[in-house]
Amino acid sequence: MTAMATTHNITDAAIASFSATPNPRLWEIMESLVRHLHGFVVDVELSQEEWATAIAYLTRVGHSCEGARQEFILLSDVLGVSMVVDAINHDAEGDTTESTVLGPFYVDNPKAAAQGADIAAGAAGTPMWIDTQVLDASGAPIAGATVDVWQCDEEGLYDVQRDLSGTEQALRARFVTDEEGRVRCWSVVPVAYQIPSDGPVGDLLAATGRHPWRPAHIHFKIVADGYASLVSHLFVSGDAYLDGDAVFGVKSSLIVDLTDHAGEQAPGGRAVSGRYKQLEYRFVLGKAA
Ligand code: BEZ
Ligand code: FE
Repeated sequence: MTAMATTHNITDAAIASFSATPNPRLWEIMESLVRHLHGFVVDVELSQEEWATAIAYLTRVGHSCEGARQEFILLSDVLGVSMVVDAINHDAEGDTTESTVLGPFYVDNPKAAAQGADIAAGAAGTPMWIDTQVLDASGAPIAGATVDVWQCDEEGLYDVQRDLSGTEQALRARFVTDEEGRVRCWSVVPVAYQIPSDGPVGDLLAATGRHPWRPAHIHFKIVADGYASLVSHLFVSGDAYLDGDAVFGVKSSLIVDLTDHAGEQAPGGRAVSGRYKQLEYRFVLGKAA
């Protein structure tokens, strides 16, 4: 007579089936993945129907990935998984700047811009002068660092959401820090926006009574020889969603006060009629591992 399958021996058998995995890290991951997945199914007593719903859901998530639309990253983000991966891989040492999610709207090798450039390229919004400096842990400037900046427009959309080909870049650019480690440019004040919610991730948020909002922020990716690369945001203080970011990306050290200025003597030789905001921040990079 064949022995009856129990959850224990199925789990043990499934784990054992991977025991010849030559790569020890892959073996470690598969062993833990099977154990946790089986434990989850037993824990919630998943029905056949719920299992089928989950398979159909993940299939929809896969079908929703194309070009700049990466629904699997979005799913990881709203489940908090992206920020757990960030937390265990970026334990900010000392005064080094904390990291946060990359998000789905990063574009590799964005167009280069000169110091003082206006990355808004005509986009509507309150002008904002961004004045940043990249330092090492001793406070010395890091010259020649690559600083990629990207943000949404006044309607809460990224350029890649308006132009899926990614050829019409706006509110994004690549700068190189000067001898003082500085990057300065003009942009517009970012706004809180909704993550894409017209797909399966939006359906999950709706079914669970969650909102899709992220607080206003600007993204930075900083790469410098000999230093740990930094992927982070700066969040605008006072935003209503700082305590309820849909993707759990907010860290208090990344919240900045924008200062308010009148136009006449705007930095970078620009004539601004009316008021503008200023954002100042010092990024501190740790040494490469
Ligand atoms: C973003 O900030 O661009 C973003 C991050 C996670 C999910 C969606 C958008
Ligand atoms: Fe963003």
